[in-house]
Amino acid sequence: MLLQQQDLGAAYYSLQREEILERIARRKNELRDNILILCHHYQSQDMFQFADLTGDSLKLARDAAAISDREFLIFCGVHFMAESADILAREHQKVLLPHLHAGCPMADMATVGAVEQAYKELLSVGIMEEETDMVPVTYVNSSAAIKAFVGERGGSVCTSSNGEKVLAWALNKGKKVFFFPDEHLGRNCASALGVSEQEVLLWRRGERLGGNSVEQLQQAKIVLWDGYCEVHMRFLPDHVRQWRLREPEIQVIIHPECSHDVVSMADQYGSTEAIIAAVAKSPAGSKWAIGTEINLVQRLKRQHPDKEIHLLAPTSCQCTTMDCNQPVNLLWLLDNLAAGKVKNQITVEPAIASLAAKSLEQMLAIC
Ligand code: 13P
Ligand code: SF4
Repeated sequence: MLLQQQDLGAAYYSLQREEILERIARRKNELRDNILILCHHYQSQDMFQFADLTGDSLKLARDAAAISDREFLIFCGVHFMAESADILAREHQKVLLPHLHAGCPMADMATVGAVEQAYKELLSVGIMEEETDMVPVTYVNSSAAIKAFVGERGGSVCTSSNGEKVLAWALNKGKKVFFFPDEHLGRNCASALGVSEQEVLLWRRGERLGGNSVEQLQQAKIVLWDGYCEVHMRFLPDHVRQWRLREPEIQVIIHPECSHDVVSMADQYGSTEAIIAAVAKSPAGSKWAIGTEINLVQRLKRQHPDKEIHLLAPTSCQCTTMDCNQPVNLLWLLDNLAAGKVKNQITVEPAIASLAAKSLEQMLAIC
């Protein structure tokens, strides 16, 4: 979903980097009792240095919810993360995104209209008698509207660290599972749970019944929406092979948004927090090839000079939409706050928020 970002004004763009960073530091100090700056691991170091809280998408939203004395939560991440923070925030708190174009293309691949249409088609051919016959599970990388759709039908959110547990819970209900929007996280979790490839179907957007026959859908246990992360798709099985040839003792660790071919060759896979923890606890001299966004890999490199850390792919893999949040946007946001003007607030309608909260709470109950 592309929101319209207001023009900052030419004066901001003529500022030098050092001046921008100094002015952010001053504004942050001036506003310190009223603001909390949250930063996802994929933000550049120029943004990350100003963070009061850092973490993966869910940790940030939960940590922010535990802090009630700051009115403005400045979320340096992408739109769906800011929405989750707004759902979990207290009533008096406002969530602000430095640049409104900071979205997640994968989250936008499952619109609520397309998902509703898929459910209608499944009902029309008798795969479901009622909507609750298929348990919806959505990755946290999804809009609040999708989380609400899932909450309304008794499903659950999952994250990159608890996808297997949530999928196991959904399968234990004895019904089929519809997993949105990331095909790859869904496939990796299904494989880890021992679900056979034949029981996992892909739902192709824009095709009748997702490009499947009624018989195929009847036999399926899990149906995966065909969303993907364009950043994590750039890691390939060949990259793993090449590192293993070059450095036989290298450990390969991968984010589960990567394709199953890559994940199945890795030594470990996990969320951004899990990757950080694995590298941190490894002994000095360890060698790592990491399959996730470049800003995080470069930060790990700087934080662990005693270890050899590489990006798994030879070319830069950057989340360019998250990178829309530049220091100049943060400065503009803070300058406006100092002038009493609230910009770029992300709000979720109360009716959507309460249903979305149900699917988030369901996940917390499972995990
Ligand atoms: P994490 O929850 O692991 O931080 O992942 C979020 C994300 O968008 C990864 O691409
Ligand atoms: Fe979305 Fe991929 Fe960016 Fe994560 S890295 S926010 S999944 S586009």
